[in-house]
Amino acid sequence: MFKRIIHSVFIRSLLVVISIGLFVACKEEKKKIIINFPHTDLSTENLIPKPLKIIPTHNAFGLNKSTVIYTSQTNNGFNKVGYFLSEKIKQKTGLDIPVNKTTTNTIDKFIYINKSDSVALKNKEAYQLYITKDTIIINAKTAEGAFRGIQTLRQLIPYTSNDTLTDYRLWPIPTGKIIDSPNYNYRGTMLDVARHFFSVADVKKYLDLIAYYKINVLHLHLTDDQGWRIEIKSWPKLTSVGGHSEVGGGKGGFYTQEEYKDIVSYAAERHILIIPEIDMPGHTNAASVSYPFLNGNGKTPKPYTGMRVGFSTFNTKKDTTYSFINNVVQEIAAITPGPYLHIGGDESHVTKKRDYHYFVKKVEAIVNKHNKQVIGWGEIIQATTNTSSVAQHWRTKKNAVIASNKGSKIILSPAKNTYLDMKYDSLSKHGLDWAGHISVTDAYNWAPENYITEIPNNAILGIEAPLWSETISTISELEYLAFPRIIGYAELGWTNKENREWENYKIRLANQVPYLKHMNVNYYPSPLIEWK
Ligand code: ACM
Repeated sequence: MFKRIIHSVFIRSLLVVISIGLFVACKEEKKKIIINFPHTDLSTENLIPKPLKIIPTHNAFGLNKSTVIYTSQTNNGFNKVGYFLSEKIKQKTGLDIPVNKTTTNTIDKFIYINKSDSVALKNKEAYQLYITKDTIIINAKTAEGAFRGIQTLRQLIPYTSNDTLTDYRLWPIPTGKIIDSPNYNYRGTMLDVARHFFSVADVKKYLDLIAYYKINVLHLHLTDDQGWRIEIKSWPKLTSVGGHSEVGGGKGGFYTQEEYKDIVSYAAERHILIIPEIDMPGHTNAASVSYPFLNGNGKTPKPYTGMRVGFSTFNTKKDTTYSFINNVVQEIAAITPGPYLHIGGDESHVTKKRDYHYFVKKVEAIVNKHNKQVIGWGEIIQATTNTSSVAQHWRTKKNAVIASNKGSKIILSPAKNTYLDMKYDSLSKHGLDWAGHISVTDAYNWAPENYITEIPNNAILGIEAPLWSETISTISELEYLAFPRIIGYAELGWTNKENREWENYKIRLANQVPYLKHMNVNYYPSPLIEWK
């Protein structure tokens, strides 16, 4: 039987073939089985985002049932990273890998997730991955860095084992060293749950998918003209009235505060920050339908299920508007552990310019009072006074330049490059096209570093790819627009410019199919990619 096994492995091993000795304790006798691993070049693995440095040593670690995970115990977060890895290994291979357990079983492989104070690990998300024949070490200064590191390891574990040895199956992982650190500290995506509502389960699936590609921010666009999606206990009609509409006339929906907290903690387990957005003073029709005193456009507010923008505004002159906003910000700040609260501020076309500036300054102060930093769409930067306020560039470059000149940071979300709701091409089943078509190539083939020549790279906090939901209402439609483009944005955010190259990326992207299939992702099979 072994002869047949070795023969079949040999046939499949046309690439570099390395022999690894594996001692297997059989019931009757001790045998040394020679297993030939077909693929052992760490530098040609299909990792996304591409790491900073990869040094292959052309051998293999055979992940198997006698592998154990140990983690640093000085920081509870490392323990959790170990359990997360063990669970993902189980889902992929069926192997039950113990974490921090003493065992009487034969152990021949170790994975150490190690808290290290190495000066080389400057960035809190940096990690080093050392893979030898029988040990894998992940060094990181923080649990966050360790978590990013195990995503790389997950991507290195093949979907199929060396399937010939049914009792002693091995999942070969190429040996070598990976030194990695992010290009930008903010690597985000946004989901519009206001135009169409997405369930907690949908959001969790999206979080799972983006975590695999090292994205670390999910911005939730929680309110808009068509619906209000977050429970505010002091203003219950926001959801009992404003939560039940959406584009096209569907039933809408909203998150209770408990559900929102569940999303926040699920994201935190993946070291992803949730940024809640309450869009104002425009995009507020649903709030004004719930509480008409808020309305400032002079018309009687009615539920809106269309797709126009720019017709609504809060009344910026009333004190009661600001008491309302204070309550909303206070309740959301209390259940949001991250440092940011997004105040929208886009397309307030029916708010007078002077009133808009007055409003943004007042709301900035309210947000700061509740110990949060403001993020807003580019327009807000004309009015903000605190340099900790961040401008999210989406359309007008001038606003990004103003932000930089003021000393504020910028998040790059240029619509024509990063909007996930733009169609891929004229044949796209979903999506809009007001900012143009964004093919899989276009999505990847630009450099945030040079996007706005007047602003220095250190003014850029990072990039974010927003997914607006006017034309999508199911997770499958969400996936069609987000995948595969979001994978490219993950690489633009993480991988430095020197390591990014379309021809190389598109091969790695083509090889994401096993993962996307395993996760049941309805990705758009762009003809520009030779999918595997
Ligand atoms: C936006 O697309 N209105 C920010």
